[in-house]
Amino acid sequence: MAGVKRTLAVDLGGIALSTPLVAASGTFGTGREGGLLDTRRLGAAVSRSITLAPRKGAPSPRVAETASGLLWSVGLQNPGIDAFLADELPRLTRTGIPLFVSIAGSSLEEYVRLASVLQDVQGIAGIEVYLRGEGEAQEGEPFLSSAEHVVGVVGAVSRLSRLPVVAKLPVSLADLVESARGCVRAGAHGLTIDGSAPGMAIDTARLRPEVGAISGFLSGPAVRPFTVRAVFEVARILPEVPILAAGGVWTGNDAVELLLAGAWAVEMGTALLVDPSAATAAADGILGYLKHKGLASPADIRGRVRIPEPGTGEEAG
Ligand SMILES: Cc1cc2nc3c(=O)[nH]c(=O)nc-3n(C[C@H](O)[C@H](O)[C@H](O)COP(=O)(O)O)c2cc1C
Repeated sequence: MAGVKRTLAVDLGGIALSTPLVAASGTFGTGREGGLLDTRRLGAAVSRSITLAPRKGAPSPRVAETASGLLWSVGLQNPGIDAFLADELPRLTRTGIPLFVSIAGSSLEEYVRLASVLQDVQGIAGIEVYLRGEGEAQEGEPFLSSAEHVVGVVGAVSRLSRLPVVAKLPVSLADLVESARGCVRAGAHGLTIDGSAPGMAIDTARLRPEVGAISGFLSGPAVRPFTVRAVFEVARILPEVPILAAGGVWTGNDAVELLLAGAWAVEMGTALLVDPSAATAAADGILGYLKHKGLASPADIRGRVRIPEPGTGEEAG
């Protein structure tokens, strides 16, 4: 449509991104990879998850291809926060795109210490809180065992943080909507809804699990419907909260689908590992969609899925 000034820029409640495409944690590299990834069409990136002390991570192999996606278990391999800040962060911020630092802890105290270290660091757009680690909230219960534990961690980090805090919540969380609401009430700026699902694959010839950690998480296009549903459920309860959707985004149309469900931006993981130019193609795809629909920006798509009215004969089957 003539006269429409089109942009891919999005505003995540005060965090300006040049496009709604964000490199997901663990898939953006460490800044050593040089020009492998085309970062021009990325609006932001998330670092791999960082712990206080270095972690060796899971035994190899850490990824395995399946017919329906990538099975991964990295076991939080990272150099620890001090080495990350000294070596990795300067390289990552040199890319020029906003960077979120993902933090992972095995206790509430560890999360709080990580968040307080990051307060004085320049050049970070925000913190993403990863809760899938092997940590325990209390008495042997993992953080993800209840909304109360999730909110406890995210609230503690948000209260002391001057940086915007985004809570990364798996779609498999029993009380996803309750947890999402609780995190926002406790001070989270936004939410990343993560569709990757626990999984396992077995090499039948060798009679062994395909990944060294025995089981891992499945990501890639197969999990996108999980992400779409969860984003839709959370966004309709919290329409004013920035939501990033992670899980199964490969093409521009995949991104549009999640924006229609209510996401403000999307994270791309597996796609970037397989095809470092995937974000460029996805950005072109979103622009093409905006043009075709005569819309100006991704915000015009957000939450616009049309739900048939009961009684119109259009009800879902
Ligand atoms: C090899 C690999 C490593 C990952 N490492 C992390 C990590 O350190 N922290 C994290 O929050 N998510 C991690 N993830 C999950 C991704 O950030 C993303 O949530 C998930 O892969 C779903 O998105 P996708 O279907 O686009 O890959 C990792 C994923 C992969 C494939």
